[in-house]
Amino acid sequence: MNEHEVPSLRRQVETAVSDAISQALPELAGADPVVRRSEHADFQANAALALAKRARRKPADLAASVADALRRGIGTDTDTDADTGTPVASVTVSGPGFINLVASDTALWRQVAARLASRHLGVGTPQQGRRTVVDYSGPNIAKEMHVGHLRTTIIGDCLSRVLGFLGAEVLRQNHLGDWGTQFGMLIEYLDEHPDVAWHHDELSDGTSTVSALNILYRAARAVFDADPDFADRARRRVVALQAGDEASVTRWREIVAESEFAFSEIYQRLGVLLTAADSAGESFYNPWLPEVVGELTQAGIAVESDGALCVFSAEITGPDGEPVPLMVRKTDGGFGYDTTDLATIRYRIRDLKADRILYVVDARQALHFQLIFEAARRAGWLTDDADVTHVSYGTVLGPDGRPFKTRSGDTVKLMDLLDTAVGRAREVVTEKAHDLDPAELDQIAEQAGIGAVKYADLSTSRTKDYTFDVDRMVSFSGNTGVYLQYAHTRICSILRKAGDASAPVDTTLAPHPAERALILALDAFGDTLTEVGQTLEPHRLCGYLYDLAKAFTDFYEACPVLSVAQPTRGNRVALCRLSAETLRRGLNLLGIAAPERM
Ligand code: ARG
Repeated sequence: MNEHEVPSLRRQVETAVSDAISQALPELAGADPVVRRSEHADFQANAALALAKRARRKPADLAASVADALRRGIGTDTDTDADTGTPVASVTVSGPGFINLVASDTALWRQVAARLASRHLGVGTPQQGRRTVVDYSGPNIAKEMHVGHLRTTIIGDCLSRVLGFLGAEVLRQNHLGDWGTQFGMLIEYLDEHPDVAWHHDELSDGTSTVSALNILYRAARAVFDADPDFADRARRRVVALQAGDEASVTRWREIVAESEFAFSEIYQRLGVLLTAADSAGESFYNPWLPEVVGELTQAGIAVESDGALCVFSAEITGPDGEPVPLMVRKTDGGFGYDTTDLATIRYRIRDLKADRILYVVDARQALHFQLIFEAARRAGWLTDDADVTHVSYGTVLGPDGRPFKTRSGDTVKLMDLLDTAVGRAREVVTEKAHDLDPAELDQIAEQAGIGAVKYADLSTSRTKDYTFDVDRMVSFSGNTGVYLQYAHTRICSILRKAGDASAPVDTTLAPHPAERALILALDAFGDTLTEVGQTLEPHRLCGYLYDLAKAFTDFYEACPVLSVAQPTRGNRVALCRLSAETLRRGLNLLGIAAPERM
């Protein structure tokens, strides 16, 4: 446990039930107490049902013994200021052997006070000491970022934030597609058309850098497809580039720099943490490719096949029943995506000393990563000391239920998509708030629109496809980013009216049922984050924040804050403060802004 950690009531109850099991039934010591939140009490322990068979006793009998042991612990918790002692006020057994537990009023308020006093809201650091590589975004140079890059960028960024908050040492890695045959074509085209404007500082007509690069790419592609002589010259350029020809390399660097500038515009707008320092594109691994191939060949893992060098899987066969290969060296002697990813995993384990590597890449690359992980194990690079996971995700669909495309059938550009969302958010915000000055409206529309896109992405279960529906995303009601942002602004407004109110929490008050429900919701923040860190599923955090916002609404409807006398008022203001801080922190971990007004 960490110094600023405040264990949740649920975990305290788990400990109490575990202790009671050890006392009442020493032979079952260490068994999972199976504690859940409950509708009938605050918590329910279902251990008796799970353990009855092993103990050869009726679940109800077992439950009664554990309940007795729990009750013996209760009388001892008389000191209301103590932060030790059982948090349980009463225990009953119901049904076939459910143990229902009610938390003590004091314990509930104690949690609120402790979380408010902690810089970290009492959340522990269970990921402490894990060096975690998060590979995300990875757009391809000289192509515009499109809707396909949205999910990896948003999900990867959220996981980086959550794991970092939980104490992991996060190494963000942007595996840019900055190497490959398309560069021959681009460089040759630029050399033959010196007048084309494609640098961001040459453009003053409102064309964004991303679009300019895209136009360049398309123009070069058109000549490449139409003119076989040009195509030949382009292919010779690839060879020259890979051989280190100075003029070609200089051009390549320019193109990469220009693309990275364009990506950084998107990253800034999306509010993701990626910077140029996180870029380790495919080209970064070039110097190691021959060595990696040599190592695999010597170990007998990579073998000659029809003039190419392949690693054949020992685990996976293709539709033809043959082992599936990774292409380590092509027949023309070149190295590709597979070779680069082999060098990458070796580098991350051997040089970056990663304990855990997350590849946030779409589900269609599942086989590729299975093969890479298998080869890395066989090569001895990947051992049980490191965890590797392909964090895969589903597709963004259009209104027709097919992968999202523009009306003309093109891929949707990320910038256009963000503009649309911000435009709709502006309309929705304008309807709601009339007193915003134009600059403030601009900013809030941007925060709401971007937040809406990110939240829609993060709140659906990662592995599922989802439909991109702007109207639903920017709605003020339902499980949306805008709803949560708005909930946060409402609490901020209550706190502004309350003035400075950091009165100590009075732990002797009996909480109203709506206060109780809100406290239990607030208390579960750290447990939820821990779960997200294990399952790598951001939608659990979204669901949690949505439930928290609803619990706050119920509380505020049932419990007046500003019009009641002390000490009730102080406790309620404390609940408002903790709710605002938890929502703000939760949104921050999703990578979503939490404005104070909207
Ligand atoms: N550039 C790749 C793509 O657009 C994604 C890179 C993912 N990371 C990796 N290590 N392969 O598909």
